[in-house]
This record gives sequence, C-alpha cells and structure tokens, in this order.
Amino acid sequence: MPREIRLNAFDMATVGHIQQGLWAHPRDRSAEYHRLDHWTGLAHLLERGLFDGLFLADVLGIYDVLGGSADAAIRHGVQVPLLDPALLVPAMAAATRHLGFGITANLSYEAPYLFARRMSTLDHLTGGRIGWNIVTGYLDSAARAMGLDRQMAHDDRYDMADEYMEVVYRLWEESWDGDAVREDRASGVYADPARVRRIRHEGRQYRLDAHHLCAPSPQRTPVLYQAGASARGQVFAATHAECVFLNGGPPAEVAKQVAALRALTERPIRVFVGATLVLGAAEAQARDKLEEYRRHASAEGALAHAAASLGIDFDRYGLDEPIASGSGNAIQSNVAAMTRAGGGVLTKRALLDRFILGSRQVPWVGTPATLAERLIAYAEETGCDGFNLSRTVIPECLEEVVELLVPELQARGAYKTGYAPGTYREKLFGGGPLLAPPHPAALRRAV
Ligand SMILES: Cc1cc2nc3c(=O)[nH]c(=O)nc-3n(C[C@H](O)[C@H](O)[C@H](O)COP(=O)(O)O)c2cc1C
Repeated sequence: MPREIRLNAFDMATVGHIQQGLWAHPRDRSAEYHRLDHWTGLAHLLERGLFDGLFLADVLGIYDVLGGSADAAIRHGVQVPLLDPALLVPAMAAATRHLGFGITANLSYEAPYLFARRMSTLDHLTGGRIGWNIVTGYLDSAARAMGLDRQMAHDDRYDMADEYMEVVYRLWEESWDGDAVREDRASGVYADPARVRRIRHEGRQYRLDAHHLCAPSPQRTPVLYQAGASARGQVFAATHAECVFLNGGPPAEVAKQVAALRALTERPIRVFVGATLVLGAAEAQARDKLEEYRRHASAEGALAHAAASLGIDFDRYGLDEPIASGSGNAIQSNVAAMTRAGGGVLTKRALLDRFILGSRQVPWVGTPATLAERLIAYAEETGCDGFNLSRTVIPECLEEVVELLVPELQARGAYKTGYAPGTYREKLFGGGPLLAPPHPAALRRAV
C-alpha cells in the first residue's frame, strides 16, 4: 500500500496569496475574499474532498521592500487588502462537520493572554477543529505599524516565541483542571475555584499574573503548525510543532529536511509540502491550461512578494548580479533554497525565470492520473505526509482536485474514503484530543 496522502488547501483572506496576478483571470473568484459565502462555499468543497484542513496564511504588514515602496503590492493585490483569518472560521465551522482550520497568527505583537483566549474561543466554537500556524513575522512594515523601528533579529524572534509558547501552554493546559467546571444546578456551583489556577510568569519578554478566561476547550492547545526551516527554526519546530510546512523542492532535498527534522524529536511530526497543481484531462490540455493561466500571472507582483519574504530589495541589483545569500532578515530558509535552485548563486534573472504562474512555487502540470502518481512518489521519496495546495484559479483549481484527483488517489489506496471521528488532532494522529507527553504543553497539564 502506498503512504496515505493528506491534503490541506493553502489560502489567505486576500486577492493574491502565492500565485500573483491570477485574480484577473475571467473565471477567478479570489476578489470575493471579503464575502462570507466565498469562504463557506470553499469549506463545503474541501469537506466534500475529505481535505484535512483549510490553512490560512497571514501577515501583519504590507510588502514594501521592492524599491522601498508598497506600490507594486497594492497595484497587484499582493497579500493586500487582507482580512483577519480568525474571524472567518466560525462561519466555515458552522457550514462543515470535519474540516480543520489552521490559522496563522503572529505572536510578536499580541499579549499571550489575549491570544490564548481567542484560540480557546475558536477551539470551543469549532468543536476542536482549530490549528495554529505559529509565526513571528518577517516584515519590518509590521514592526513599524506596531510602533517599533524594525523587527527583532531572526534567531531572537524564535527565542521570544519559545517564551510565548510557555505562557500560552500554561494558560491552556494548567489554569483550569479538566473537572473544574461542575455545572451543578442543585448546589448552584458552576465551577470549583479550587480547580482553577492563577498563572504567574516572569520572564525576559513577558509578565503575567492571571487566570485563563476560558474553561478547557476540546483540544486545549490548538494543533500546532510551524514552518521554520532554518537551523534555529528546526529546533523550534522539533520542540513545539505537531505539523510542519515545507516549501517543497527537489525530493532528495526535501527528504533530507524531513529526516533532519524528525531526528530532532521522538514525537511524531506530520510534514506537509507546498504544491501548486494544474490539471487537464490529457497532458496537452493541462499544458494549454497552464499557458492560459500564465497570461494573467504578474511578474512584478511576484517580485514584490519575493522581495518582502526574502528581505531583499531586488531593485538594487542588476539582472545577473549575484545576491549574497546571507542578506536579509526575513525567511532565511527561502533565501537558501533559492540560492541552491540557482546552482549556488541567487540572481534576479534566476528568480524571474522561475516565476511561471506569478510565484517562486513551480506548478506541477498533468492529468489527474499522472499527478496522483507524482504525489504518491514524492511522498514515498520524501517521507512527507501530504501537501498544502496553493490556489491558482479559484474555485476551479480545487473543484478539479476534489472531483478528479482525489478519486485517482483513492483508487490507488493513497487517500482516505471518509473522515476519522474526533477533533482535528485526533483526525491527524489518532490518540486523544489533547497533546500527550513528552510535548511541553502536556507536561503543564495538572489534571
Ligand atoms: C509554507 C509556508 C507558509 C508560511 N506562511 C506564513 C504566513 O502565513 N505568515 C508568516 O508570517 N510567515 C509564514 N511563513 C514563514 C514562516 O513562518 C517562517 O517565518 C519561516 O519559514 C521561517 O523560516 P526560517 O526559520 O527558515 O527563517 C510560511 C513559511 C512556509 C514555508
């Protein structure tokens, strides 16, 4: 039997997420990102295709690195305008029963106390279907928006995040015992104060003296996702993450990343690899569709996106001028991957050549059958558990996956035919709804 493949849809409450410019395609509906029925319709579709989750990216600033201006990002709708992903979840949860919701939340600018309550609320309202992609951000524009001059240095952001995690674990896991809520009408006791603990924390970044405001939610700690791939990022992921996102790339390279990550921890870690698929009934049709989509792709939008996420202003470089791979305080692993893809040298031309559909993510093009084989082979070779599918022309790109690709995967025994019961965590890992030791969150739980 082949490895089971899991699918997440990777999206963002914005016009241009990964593949820039495609919003202008006549059949594309991403400009409806501000309508609730856009999201409930998507959630329905994904549940029909037995997707594990809808993953929503987020940033807290604008992309203003290219030429020192936000003009290109604004012109092409590159992750701006952008809504708050957490607020989309309750409506989508009401429209579905099983789909998980992974929301990206940047911990750098929000007190852990407030954030912990919001996630507990979402975990309650979704019946335990919430996940959190832990990010610290990569944009100086976000830092300036929050009154700082610039963001913290790359590794320091991870140190801050370690302390943040300690605080939110204590709120989620330690503050309320599992039997604290009595709801005893006869005695009039709603909750037992002896079973609700006040959390005191004095650390380098955070001070707190408080009870968590929420009673334990089905999963307590949301399913934890993370995407750090630098050396420091991997240590953070191995400590905290249950699922990890990787950008993708040549299978041998990704296999090494997966093995290196898993070697750092005894806990099981599910790995999802980013992929963009273009399907056609025959190979020639798939290639034609790629060309048709491609006419709408925006190279300038893609460059604005890449400049901000790599932390490099490409306008300062000539087309063939080598760009030092150590430069940039944004996503280090992305800079390293781009440099490797360029044969050891990163240039603006190499980057532009890679933009096929308006991003650095090179699409996989083929029939449902060939792409099913390719996903299965990739998962076997890399040891990944599934894929995070970026959108191209929405909703058709996902309708085709649900209607054409999923049955091909199922026919090969590589895809579930129904959802497992329980919370998001139970669906992903089996076992119970709560984190288990040796995860540091589980070690905080009293009862
Ligand atoms: C697939 C994927 C999705 C990501 N989504 C976001 C996001 O939505 N918001 C964000 O601030 N960072 C996002 N990141 C960046 C990561 O959170 C993180 O900053 C980055 O991968 C750090 O990598 P490094 O440790 O290699 O520097 C994403 C990264 C990957 C690979």
